[in-house]
Amino acid sequence: MKYKLFGTGTGLYSSEVILGAASFGTRKGHGTTPEEAHAILSAYADAGGNFIDTSDRYQLGESEELIGKFIEHQRSNFIISSKYTQSSGSNPKISNYGNHRKAMRQAVEASLKRLKTDYIDIYMPHFDDGVTPLDEISRGLEDLVQSGKVIYTGLTNFPAWKASTIASSTKLAAIQVEYNLLQRTAEREFLPMASHFGLGTMMYSPLAGGTLTGKYRNGETGRMTLSTTFDYQESDSTKAIIDQLCVIAEELEATPGQVAFAWVLSKGAFPILGARRLHHFSEGMKALSISSSADHIEKLDVLSAIPLGYPHDLLASGRA
Ligand SMILES: NC(=O)c1ccc[n+]([C@@H]2O[C@H](COP(=O)([O-])OP(=O)(O)OC[C@H]3O[C@@H](n4cnc5c(N)ncnc54)[C@H](OP(=O)(O)O)[C@@H]3O)[C@@H](O)[C@H]2O)c1
Repeated sequence: MKYKLFGTGTGLYSSEVILGAASFGTRKGHGTTPEEAHAILSAYADAGGNFIDTSDRYQLGESEELIGKFIEHQRSNFIISSKYTQSSGSNPKISNYGNHRKAMRQAVEASLKRLKTDYIDIYMPHFDDGVTPLDEISRGLEDLVQSGKVIYTGLTNFPAWKASTIASSTKLAAIQVEYNLLQRTAEREFLPMASHFGLGTMMYSPLAGGTLTGKYRNGETGRMTLSTTFDYQESDSTKAIIDQLCVIAEELEATPGQVAFAWVLSKGAFPILGARRLHHFSEGMKALSISSSADHIEKLDVLSAIPLGYPHDLLASGRA
């Protein structure tokens, strides 16, 4: 595993792959048993991984509990990022939900208990709630840093203009965005914004929730078929990209998922590897050693390209 500076705004070194813990636990009915989650965490640590991403919402708090047990006697070795907004309750009360300071304070205290630690390395609201004033979020995050309960702060799932407003008024260290061969819209605003503010960029769903493994074509099951929250349908563009992944995978004696993960890695930010099973983890890590050529990357770049839209297209056209 290689280590890279986590953005230019911190001196923190992260392993090149972050481990995602969204599936750790079974409280939501579809996830990873505690034993297998422990095995994945151990395999990640053995491979040199030092950065685990979770949320109070993942498996209704169970993900944080399992991480807490794992890091209890080796806390200082790991960077832990966690999130709040929706609470860990299956049926949250209105005062526990959202990004307001009361919810933030309650959530951080509960996460610290579950994680069995007295600080969280990177803490962020999980979604824009559409209501809480941005200044309230900035001040609340700053106070958590002042109190020592949180070291760094970040954002995920906020519109870029709101994220940028918060980043202009408080020191953020991280941004977490969905990024994969089927979802490149972060290139329009988020990635330039992250570069401008020196944010460590965490890329979630690098395999588009498993779609880019090609497994659904083969009739295999996964979250898209087992959970009502997801819906997978192959479109013309998805089909062309998965076809190309299969061709490159054959050339490289790899799997389509490994090629898709290697493509995200080639973009220089930090992919968050999501593994519900231990074999998902082991197969995903092999992406670090496959040698996709510049030609492979370019083919995938072209097939998955999106229009950047206004004003980027206007500015690039020379008409401005
Ligand atoms: N900020 C946010 O709002 C947000 C949102 C999403 C994720 N995240 C973070 O990003 C992490 C990764 O996201 P993600 O889980 O969506 O990543 P992903 O890489 O797009 O999807 C991972 C899933 O792909 C499938 N998969 C992986 N390897 C496989 C293999 N070899 N064979 C068959 N299936 C395979 C599994 O799906 P099945 O489990 O369905 O079998 C696995 O759970 C999460 O754990 C979380 O930490 C953050």
